[in-house]
Amino acid sequence: MKRARTDTLFVTRLYRADAVAAPSFNRELERACLLTAEEDQAGLQWAKAHGYKGYTSYASLNDLTLRLPPIAALDKILNRHVAAFARDLEFDIPAGGLALDSIWLNVMEEESFHSGHIHPHSVISGTYYVRLPKSAAGIRFEDPRLPLMMAAPPRRSDAALSNRTFVTVMPKARTLLMWESFVRHDVPRNCARGKRISVSFNYGLR
Ligand SMILES: [Fe+2]
Repeated sequence: MKRARTDTLFVTRLYRADAVAAPSFNRELERACLLTAEEDQAGLQWAKAHGYKGYTSYASLNDLTLRLPPIAALDKILNRHVAAFARDLEFDIPAGGLALDSIWLNVMEEESFHSGHIHPHSVISGTYYVRLPKSAAGIRFEDPRLPLMMAAPPRRSDAALSNRTFVTVMPKARTLLMWESFVRHDVPRNCARGKRISVSFNYGLR
């Protein structure tokens, strides 16, 4: 037993950066999100038709970097972080080999939630948090191997993060989270008072 060891294989990385943008820029971004959420009738109708409490531009606007200067500026910030994450993941691709392929706004009202999903056809996905009311819901990630765990026992409640089947992360305003797009995640019901505003995005191979 003296030489026994346990290696870690097939790791799931979660990238987190706090305070990635200046507070003044974040306020500008918040105004742009709220204004768009008032004006984008197609997006509001889509949200209503799909039982989404609040607003998302996901199905209605695909040109936010051209339409909203704060989103174009955010894309520049994201590019740097995506490049850092790609290095961390040791992707064997050229520098700048990943490019934004979609970006959308989310203004979740009280009682809203987003059930478990992945982001197909992308490499890296993530969210920048603009505003989170006090006690707002975080985001929950699921072990991608879960469908294969036929007889795996449950994990201890104090298990290390890397051994848990579900991990809930609590971002703050101006936090950026990124993960590989195949990692399933959900947003539990937002029971906090006030709007939960975020910008989500996908990066794919250029
Ligand atoms: Fe998502």
